[in-house]
Amino acid sequence: VVLGHKTEGQFLDLKNMTVRDTFLSGTLPDGFLWGTATAAFQIEGGWDSGEKGPSIWDWFSHLPGNVPWGDVAADSYHKYKEDVQMHVDTGLNSYRFSISWPRLFPDGTNTTINQYGVDYYNNLINELKNNGIEPLVTLYHWDLPQKLKDRYGGWVNDTMVELFENYARFCFATFGDRVKYWATFNEPWSFVAALGDFNHDPDYSMRYKMAHNVIRAHARAWHTYDDDFRSSQNGSVGIVISSMWGEPADLHNPADRQAATNYMEFFFGWFANPIIGNGDYPDVMKRMVRESRLKQNQTVSPLPEFTEEEKLYNSGSTDFLGINTYTARIISATNETQTCHPDGHNFASACGFMPDLMGVKESVGPGWFYMGSNIFWFAPWNIRGILHFVRERYNYTKPFYLSEVGIGETYKYHSPPNLNDTWRMCFYMTYANEALKAVKLDGVDLRGFYAWTLLDNVEWGSGPDQAFGLYHTNFTHPSRQRTPKRSQGLYRTIAQENGFPE
Ligand code: NOJ
Repeated sequence: VVLGHKTEGQFLDLKNMTVRDTFLSGTLPDGFLWGTATAAFQIEGGWDSGEKGPSIWDWFSHLPGNVPWGDVAADSYHKYKEDVQMHVDTGLNSYRFSISWPRLFPDGTNTTINQYGVDYYNNLINELKNNGIEPLVTLYHWDLPQKLKDRYGGWVNDTMVELFENYARFCFATFGDRVKYWATFNEPWSFVAALGDFNHDPDYSMRYKMAHNVIRAHARAWHTYDDDFRSSQNGSVGIVISSMWGEPADLHNPADRQAATNYMEFFFGWFANPIIGNGDYPDVMKRMVRESRLKQNQTVSPLPEFTEEEKLYNSGSTDFLGINTYTARIISATNETQTCHPDGHNFASACGFMPDLMGVKESVGPGWFYMGSNIFWFAPWNIRGILHFVRERYNYTKPFYLSEVGIGETYKYHSPPNLNDTWRMCFYMTYANEALKAVKLDGVDLRGFYAWTLLDNVEWGSGPDQAFGLYHTNFTHPSRQRTPKRSQGLYRTIAQENGFPE
């Protein structure tokens, strides 16, 4: 069977059932990284231990009415050795975790360096290296030092570019002898567009400004590494972008293909185009933002402009691309929009400021699954779709990592654990097989796969009520005891066999 060599421009023929459902045997390239991914706020706890400064998420979770689940989280601040041992037990050779900026710099600047924080990450990194596990370190997984928010307003302020450079430089200098893979930002779209860093931003203008500084900060960190660390440390610096793959409803209908392309260029290209494209925002985005603001009688577009010099500086400022992918959207130019959730949690409403993506309508169909309270598509084929699209659309030839792939469930943390997660086994089986197809059939340079996540943890605003872990975490007990789920065994088999040998 020839699986999916048929393409329409930037799109693979993924609706073809043979392509979707046929299971492929074979292994990933030697040295492929199999790991899990976590984030500091979601697992560490120790929120004010060892002279750590507060982050905006500590601030948020301490607001009246919220539960400060991040205070202890999964207690990885104290139990990091167990976390590493769990990687060993799962046969993994990599771990993607994030550094908490305010744990290193309590007030966000390098005027005070918290030695306890430095020790913590040194210990974690050394424990990983001693066990043959390659760290992939995210510098920014959303936990901005609260002091930088108070003093500067956070990412809306241009000063953030320099502050981030200082922080990144410190991390490269301190840990870069052992850390060879760095991701600057995790899912900028999510913390900028979806969450907005808790700013009051009713017309979404601040988001465009935040994104602008995040892109500039990314480029600055990459150039810092390139200029001052690459020759001595020989590592790579990339960025992790989220993908909600947009599959054309009818591949053979040019209008649907155009709608899906517009969607991808806006959602994904916002951050990808400046970094792996021409250094600037996508044309379609510039046009749409301007037109939508004109409709609201605003003559000035809120989308900032890069100077010619900045465009050159942005373009190519990455050594790899991390893609977080969970699910997909079906994009049609004509169908009525159907929401993914009764309260309208769909592309248009979640993005608020993008409802005027002319002609882009999305719909759901059979095959969805629950993640938290939202219904998403169970769409393993999105892996091939996104990797192929990015390569073709941007002529991108550097390595890819699937930096998060996972599935959660709504779960009451005080209920008995759901250890028999056969549906999660099915998820990893099919998603990992699509990763294999991307390499073997589409020739994509994919170098790693990271399950989200190692252990049940704190899902941002909602606490431990959404469980994504290969391990269950007992949130009713201060010990935060970890217990493997069935999916952990399956993931171990896939990782140890490096795929699906005959
Ligand atoms: C993406 C984010 O990077 C991570 O922090 C989050 O927990 C998962 N998606 C699941 O929602």
